[in-house]
Amino acid sequence: ARGWRGVIEEYRDRLPVTAKTPVVTLLEGGTPLLPAPRLSQLTGCEVYLKVEGLNPTGSFKDRGMTVAISKAVEAGAKAVICASTGNTSASAAAYAVRAGLTCAVLVPRGKIAMGKLAQALVHGAKLLQVNGSFDDCLEMTRKLSADYPIALVNSVNPDRLQGQKTAAFEIVDVLGDAPDVHCLPVGNAGNISAYWMGYKEYREDGVATRTPRMLGFQASGAAPIVTGAPVPHPHTIATAIRIGNPASWKLAEAARDESGGDIQSVTDRQIAAAYKLLAQEEGVFVELASAASVAGLLQAHERGLVRRGERVVCTVTGNGLKDPDWAIAGAPAPITIPVDAQAAAAALELA
Ligand code: F0G
Repeated sequence: ARGWRGVIEEYRDRLPVTAKTPVVTLLEGGTPLLPAPRLSQLTGCEVYLKVEGLNPTGSFKDRGMTVAISKAVEAGAKAVICASTGNTSASAAAYAVRAGLTCAVLVPRGKIAMGKLAQALVHGAKLLQVNGSFDDCLEMTRKLSADYPIALVNSVNPDRLQGQKTAAFEIVDVLGDAPDVHCLPVGNAGNISAYWMGYKEYREDGVATRTPRMLGFQASGAAPIVTGAPVPHPHTIATAIRIGNPASWKLAEAARDESGGDIQSVTDRQIAAAYKLLAQEEGVFVELASAASVAGLLQAHERGLVRRGERVVCTVTGNGLKDPDWAIAGAPAPITIPVDAQAAAAALELA
């Protein structure tokens, strides 16, 4: 037996690497496909969670970053740059350390979760807070990478999507075939596009006999693909997907249409309820944006878009520890007591 080797070594022949590519890895991927009994009971489906918060930096971004950073090093880059709502910057910062690269990140000021900010800083990234949106940040990084010798590692870099498609491979490898339905949160729309690439590739090569219907979910205040027009001032509590003009818009529409799926919006209220359900009824602590996939599944169930007995995978994209502020704000304040077992017993209502 051997341990998990990271997504490049595990899926080398399906990724854009050669024997000459230096592999920069933190042993990402190999995340649990966790049965979700409560969600299965609520929907009548066989529901699984792909728990991407258990990647090295706590989100799915690591799958794409190992490939993007490895290819950047191969191409001779000395520095990388990204725009981010937090997770991409955390991942880029960590993989850049591993590769000995300088990392610059642009984030929308005041709109990224505390844990993500901490990650970029602790890994020594040059972090700029921009008085603007994620979409503004992405436009700036595109320009900077065009004008200066600094490699762009946002998901507009095709190596990112190549790495991220490995999550679909892992699901098929575990289940023995593709599920009937796959639910995902949608922000910049890279991940849903990457999963669709992965599922299609496995079916074309006969590893899977079918592909799932792809169901993507945007927050209702940041739902350009649903409304059909960019959103100039996107708003949602799910800051990771607070995006008004997704870079992979067209690819996500293709994933939706080719798979017979849909892209819908869910409200902040639905997202917060799914976040709480995951924490308190499944034992899985995710960040708000990740709960959009589960909020979406529950909505799809209500609308009759998923059928009893179908196999459904929801990707939960990021770890709940990324955003302690939200978790604490929504919970009852802890009770303080003296060093006294009886006081504890009383507070715990044991007596
Ligand atoms: N969930 C989380 C936790 C995310 O961080 C993101 C995107 C998404 C879902 C949406 O994925 O963009 O591929 O549609 N975060 C990016 C970032 C934008 O900068 O970290 P997508």
